[in-house]
Amino acid sequence: MYKIFVTSKVSDSALNILKSVGEVEVWEKEETLNGKTLLEKIKEKDAVLTMVNNFVTDDIIQQAPKLKVIGNCGVGYNNIDIASAEKHGVIVTNTPDVLNDATADLTWAMILGIARRIVEADKFVREGKFTGWLPHLFIGNMVYGKKLGIIGLGRIGRAVCKRAKGFKMEVYYYNRNPLPKAQEEALNATYKNLEDLLRECDYITIHAPLNEDSHHLIGRDELNLMKKDAYLINTSRGPLIDEQALYEHLKDGKIAGAALDVYEHEPEIVEGLLGLDNVILLPHIGSATYETRTNMAELAAKNIANVLSGKEPLTPVTKGWRK
Ligand code: DGY
Repeated sequence: MYKIFVTSKVSDSALNILKSVGEVEVWEKEETLNGKTLLEKIKEKDAVLTMVNNFVTDDIIQQAPKLKVIGNCGVGYNNIDIASAEKHGVIVTNTPDVLNDATADLTWAMILGIARRIVEADKFVREGKFTGWLPHLFIGNMVYGKKLGIIGLGRIGRAVCKRAKGFKMEVYYYNRNPLPKAQEEALNATYKNLEDLLRECDYITIHAPLNEDSHHLIGRDELNLMKKDAYLINTSRGPLIDEQALYEHLKDGKIAGAALDVYEHEPEIVEGLLGLDNVILLPHIGSATYETRTNMAELAAKNIANVLSGKEPLTPVTKGWRK
């Protein structure tokens, strides 16, 4: 019988899928598994269902000789050493698509939240400071009719783009390669190089994966290109932004604001950011809806079940299986 380890509590529906192909052990504690415990747990296992905060390193993969599949419960898989998995014949899978809408919804909550100062205003009311309507109380910026810049017009970027229609925004995007014209027309999005997009857009939202090319994609020089009244939103991965440089830009009022769901050294946050009002800080909850988390866990479980029963995984990321 195959042995499967699950690094966090997941839905019964996902567990049942796994139980149909093996014996399942779940890490029930709320605290994140550290590398040492993760290794102890998976060194004799055939499969592991991981979360995006479980780091499966080369060292761990080397010491888990029976491991056949890592079903990552997340679209991002920068927490797994893919080259090592490929070298050792371990299949890695992720959970694309099922979280597009949840992440796009949160991105819009963040755009609206930072533009209209929702968090600041809520705090003000809770602190008992609201003594009546004032003409200059919490003046923010318009979203309707402004320019939206999407860095990474992939699956999540497109879901964000579609929602912009209701706000009558001009949408621009930057990708490594521009999309075919027909797709651009369907999405009503226009390609711009990164520099022009940063220079011209009012709201810039990042939906690109983290890899060697995208680390610090938005550094000090890129932040310098942004308008003084522009906002930066990130629900992808923290290291795409130089967080210290962003903090300095926000502190000095060089850009209007930012909304972050992810951090460069997660869960650590550049200290000064916590003291600023022109930034919204969320605890990596892009996909955190009941429906989405269930769908993600089920997809990760199906991937594992498929591999263990000799079928093709549904959403593989390792070579040979990559679609
Ligand atoms: C992902 O899927 O990569 C998210 O960041 C986790 O919810």
